[in-house]
Amino acid sequence: MNNSIRVFAPATIGNIGIGFDVLGLCLEHPGDLITIRSSERPGVRIQKISGTTIPIPTDPQHNTASVAVIRLLEHLELNAVGFDIEIEKQMPFGSGLGSSAASAVAAVVAANELLGNPLSRRALLPFACDGEAVSTGGRVVDNVAPSLLGGIVLIRDIPSLDVMQLPVPKALYAALVYPHIQILTADSRSKLQETVSLKDYIRQSANLASFIHALHTSDFELIRRCLHDIIVEPQRAPGIPHFYEVKKAAMEAGALACSISGSGPTIFALCGDAEIAERTAAEMAQVFQKNGIQNTPYCSEVNTLGATVR
Ligand code: HSE
Repeated sequence: MNNSIRVFAPATIGNIGIGFDVLGLCLEHPGDLITIRSSERPGVRIQKISGTTIPIPTDPQHNTASVAVIRLLEHLELNAVGFDIEIEKQMPFGSGLGSSAASAVAAVVAANELLGNPLSRRALLPFACDGEAVSTGGRVVDNVAPSLLGGIVLIRDIPSLDVMQLPVPKALYAALVYPHIQILTADSRSKLQETVSLKDYIRQSANLASFIHALHTSDFELIRRCLHDIIVEPQRAPGIPHFYEVKKAAMEAGALACSISGSGPTIFALCGDAEIAERTAAEMAQVFQKNGIQNTPYCSEVNTLGATVR
């Protein structure tokens, strides 16, 4: 049996605009790398964290990666196992790209591999969610499930973790831009209105249902018509400088749709080919550039594999 495993878990687009808390899409990059080494000393420890200037807890009871592994070991009743975890953050924290979810996912996948894969990929979901909850303050699955399973994931029910993978149309690309400001998901969620009008509910659910249909039929024109979040985006957009200018630039560059990734500040656009995605990312980045806001653009195909051993 190996005594060390390295796993990459990718960033994700939580909500995909139209499906607040119920949809998520897995990207090829960026992501987090986690190495776990077996140790003769029982217990789970965080040995090293690199790639971030933001302080991340090293106390194993408060770190998303170690909590996920601790819950997995508790479930398997493996009290004598010892693991040392090394975290290489390769994506920004508080960016809306599912950074804490990626760390939790990479950690449980690595631990499961080291143990000889006692659980299926899907059975790891509750433990990765427990780890992620340390950061978000509650169970939010729309980043964890796509990073773990890959593709585009629909979460039918959060408490029972009833999730399903949706078809991924060929040539669907994401263009993203991360403006270098930090938004914490827990803060952002606490500011959302608790109620929705019946009129808005009807429009949003019709558009969400249409998006699912568009994925099944690879209907990009339907994506263009239906991917409009009228409930959450208008509440969060004021917290992201120049959001509507960036969105306009993405649509003018030929994107099918544009909205906020997770709780932001990253803005994503879905595009019907790689060239349009490259152009869209550049045009979105240009808006921040000309307004003096440092930013990082990304372009990615939908990653259908999720976390992978490296
Ligand atoms: N879906 C959650 C939110 C988490 O928008 O608050 C972000 O992925």
